[in-house]
Amino acid sequence: MHGLKMNRPSNFQRLFLLLLILLRSRSFAIVCYHCDSMALPECSQTLGEVGVLPYKECTTELTCAMSIVDSITYRGCGAETPITGAAYSKTCSSNLCNAGVYPPGRLKCHHCAGQECVAAPAAKPKPCRYHFEEDQCYTDVISSSDAYRGCASEQNHTLSIAAKLCDINGCNEDQGAWIQVCASCDSVIGRGCKIDLFQVSNSRCNVSLYEECQQDVLLGEQEDKYCFSFRRLSRVVRGCSTKMPSDLEPYVEQFEKCRVGDHCNAGCITQQKCLTCNSVDQKLCRTNITAISNSTCSSAEASSCFSCEYSNWSIQRGCGAPPTNPQITKCYECDEGTGCNSKDFTRCYQCSTDLAGAGCANWERPGEIYIEECAEPGAPCVVVSYNNGTTARGCQTSDFSCTSANVASCRPCEGSFCNKGSFPEKRLWCHQCRGVQDCEEISRGQTALPCPLPANEPENQELACLEYFDINSKEIVRGCRSNSELYYECLLRSNHLDSCRTCHSQACNNSPGQELRAAYELETKALSMFQSKSSAISIKFANLGYGIWLLPSAIYILN
Ligand SMILES: *[C@@H]1O[C@H](CO)[C@@H](O)[C@H](O)[C@H]1NC(C)=O
Ligand SMILES: *[C@@H]1O[C@H](CO)[C@@H](O)[C@H](O)[C@H]1NC(C)=O
Ligand SMILES: *[C@@H]1O[C@H](CO)[C@@H](O)[C@H](O)[C@H]1NC(C)=O
Ligand SMILES: *[C@@H]1O[C@H](CO)[C@@H](O)[C@H](O)[C@H]1NC(C)=O
Ligand SMILES: *[C@@H]1O[C@H](CO)[C@@H](O)[C@H](O)[C@H]1NC(C)=O
Ligand SMILES: *[C@@H]1O[C@H](CO)[C@@H](O)[C@H](O)[C@H]1NC(C)=O
Repeated sequence: MHGLKMNRPSNFQRLFLLLLILLRSRSFAIVCYHCDSMALPECSQTLGEVGVLPYKECTTELTCAMSIVDSITYRGCGAETPITGAAYSKTCSSNLCNAGVYPPGRLKCHHCAGQECVAAPAAKPKPCRYHFEEDQCYTDVISSSDAYRGCASEQNHTLSIAAKLCDINGCNEDQGAWIQVCASCDSVIGRGCKIDLFQVSNSRCNVSLYEECQQDVLLGEQEDKYCFSFRRLSRVVRGCSTKMPSDLEPYVEQFEKCRVGDHCNAGCITQQKCLTCNSVDQKLCRTNITAISNSTCSSAEASSCFSCEYSNWSIQRGCGAPPTNPQITKCYECDEGTGCNSKDFTRCYQCSTDLAGAGCANWERPGEIYIEECAEPGAPCVVVSYNNGTTARGCQTSDFSCTSANVASCRPCEGSFCNKGSFPEKRLWCHQCRGVQDCEEISRGQTALPCPLPANEPENQELACLEYFDINSKEIVRGCRSNSELYYECLLRSNHLDSCRTCHSQACNNSPGQELRAAYELETKALSMFQSKSSAISIKFANLGYGIWLLPSAIYILN
């Protein structure tokens, strides 16, 4: 290599260089910086400081050049410098004019390695060694005593999973490690963890009775470290995420988290407001809770509200955890929002037409209808009609609600015993029964049930009730036409086509059994008369009821 390589230029050397330039400027030659960034990283990084890069005297030409080819920076005499395929190139014609970083838009990043690299860098960022359009700066913190910063394109450090990348000049400047200090307390262990005991009235306060916990945080580390505060009913806990009590692990999703500033998790909880009343002195406590106002709990330690019912049905509501009293039959404790203890202990009617029969749907003949104490306070009552025609009532639960599968129609309601009355009102109801005894004569409401919705059939198909006398089993059958199996039976097993009767109004399939069987009985009588008179003619009699009928159909009696 020609020229001088000067790593640490002394004043003498700088003087010498200037002298050389002065002398040469008169002659027919030029001095140019001469390097490539593969061999010498500084070749692409210097901002034009004198004496950092080697130079060379060009003997046969009068231009210097600088180019970037395949992300490598070249500087040298005009003709010697590669420019084929250059992403950037420049020529100039004065001594040492090919200095500096070109193009000027190259990304600048902080460069450092090791222990001193952990703190936020003090030096200015330097341009990246190679020229890439989409270069990035990185900060890679390995431990609290080892970190690396630089340009991703330089590839002289293998990035760990913790590396943070960014693409603005000097952006890899964040502190690499710090200590997070959190407030730590648990209301189960000591007072003052909920609200500051010394300034209770101020809702925007910080608690002051706590210990401190600390945790080391590294930039970009996988584990999310934070200060937390957690509130659940009468308990409040604050602390460091790395020192979390194991019984809180299931509630991590509900934690309030913060990461910036010391004791950032010390904010007071909002003071609880509850309904405070007793139905013994205040009837409204049971009958109309909306008429009672919420009151702020006087104790800073009361972070929840309760509602309890006594064995004599009286209701008590108030601040804090529920009282203990053997007369209490049930209670709940809550903490979400103001007056959360306004919910009543609801009771709902519970039944299913599968077990209780029609009474559960038509509400006319009670029996097998129970009272359900809802497990969930304030739960709505529901009455549901499924696609298969079953009607059911009960407290709303996750398994039993208007959004359950196969629900055809549904009515939720608020307040105890509200799920009463016939349901569904809009659907056609038909008597659904089979047999010689109960089904023979219909008294109002006895067996009428909502029809199932026809499966795989257009919904606008008009619903109908049906009734017939089954000539096989010799019994009366009543039901819904939307029950397709039953409808086929009705067509095939009734005396003949006209004997499968359909109608379209509520519970209309209530013809007396006598009437339904009359046609068949008449026919059988006529047939036996006919047979005895002309015994010579053999008659094929199809037992299923769709054989060839020799008798006129006029004997069918219309009602
Ligand atoms: C990578 O190279 C640059 C110069 O291009 C240098 O400043 C930096 O310290 C080097 N980094 C490592 C980790 O060696
Ligand atoms: C509570 O602490 C936070 C974080 O330390 C602070 O920003 C805020 O000003 C404090 N509030 C009061 C009322 O002292
Ligand atoms: C309950 O009390 C509120 C407010 O006093 C009143 O507007 C409402 O009509 C009452 N409701 C009943 C059912 O008494
Ligand atoms: C009590 O608080 C609840 C919940 O915010 C609210 O719905 C209710 O209206 C409040 N009652 C009164 C009387 O302010
Ligand atoms: C119901 O029982 C509780 C607790 O035993 C008692 O305080 C209250 O007075 C009783 N209520 C009535 C209406 O007797
Ligand atoms: C009707 O459907 C409901 C809900 O899918 C089910 O619980 C019930 O057992 C069914 N009844 C009959 C008779 O299939």
